Amino acid sequence: MKGIIFVVWEKYLGERFGSPFLDRYRAAIGENQQNLPEIVRVYPDELLVKGLATASKMSLESEDALMVEYGRFFMLNGLVEYLCGYLLAQSWSGYELLLQMRDAHAQMRRTPDGINPPLFEYEVLSGDHKHMMLTYESNRRLCSLLEGCIYGAAERFGEKVRIRQHTCQKKGDSVCRFEILFEGDSWAKHATPDRIKQEKERLSKQGLSNLILQVLSPNPNNAMDMFVIKKAIEQHQGSYFPEIYQKQQQLGPVHISQVFTTLAKLQQVGLVSSTANQGPDSFTQRLYWRSPTHD
Ligand code: HEM
Repeated sequence: MKGIIFVVWEKYLGERFGSPFLDRYRAAIGENQQNLPEIVRVYPDELLVKGLATASKMSLESEDALMVEYGRFFMLNGLVEYLCGYLLAQSWSGYELLLQMRDAHAQMRRTPDGINPPLFEYEVLSGDHKHMMLTYESNRRLCSLLEGCIYGAAERFGEKVRIRQHTCQKKGDSVCRFEILFEGDSWAKHATPDRIKQEKERLSKQGLSNLILQVLSPNPNNAMDMFVIKKAIEQHQGSYFPEIYQKQQQLGPVHISQVFTTLAKLQQVGLVSSTANQGPDSFTQRLYWRSPTHD
């Protein structure tokens, strides 16, 4: 499972229960300063299972209650906005965001990191973009996390949501089915175009992301390290620079740390692949290429 899930989980534990709790939790699962989770790494599912059981025992909260809270936290905290902004900037209501998640999570499968994101299916229950049946299938059976994410998705837009779970994999059903009804209007519905533009820019900071996607090859044999990527951006050597990206060419000098953080963000949403999880890896030698965007 992708490192972002573990990094944000620890952030949640620290904010919810305080730093002494987080320190005790880390000691209990055998973590120290040297092996703290990193966003670009992939970790075994068992680590989440162990972490969840440990946090539940220490906090006296049920595992499901923790997962619901964590899902909500995931959707609303600044780190996820920062790392997944490219994705969050595409939707303007809880309903739209939820619909987008099928493709968004499917995109994460197209990297070589061997991750196994959830599968979502939708059934539209009304024409007003408020009511749907969502089917979730995953052998991780994290439907309580999903529930929390749905609450968080509504809250991002100032909406309310009612959720009723009809079936559950944890109770022996083959899939989890959620009936979901959004209530109230998204703030975006009444916002001026300028306000939306500002929010989009805040979330996506797409300039450098787009430039990087332009210069990266889709062929893993032509993968580049971040220094070569930086040089290619500066020399505008991308395969093509259509008009909409021309503004980016007037960007000032780009620092290598900006290239690195933008690459990390693009990896979170599955648009860029890297050698981070393929054998020995070092920060400077890691190679990057563009993930395919269809199967
Ligand atoms: C409404 C919004 C969202 C919903 C309902 C949702 C739901 C879920 C669920 C239920 C899982 C559990 C994994 C499983 O069952 O296999 C998951 C995993 C994950 N989600 Fe989301 N998510 C949402 C938004 C996001 C966003 C904005 C990001 C940012 C990139 C994201 C990134 C991930 C990642 C990286 C995983 C782990 C995948 C893996 O390693 O296999 N999700 N999500």
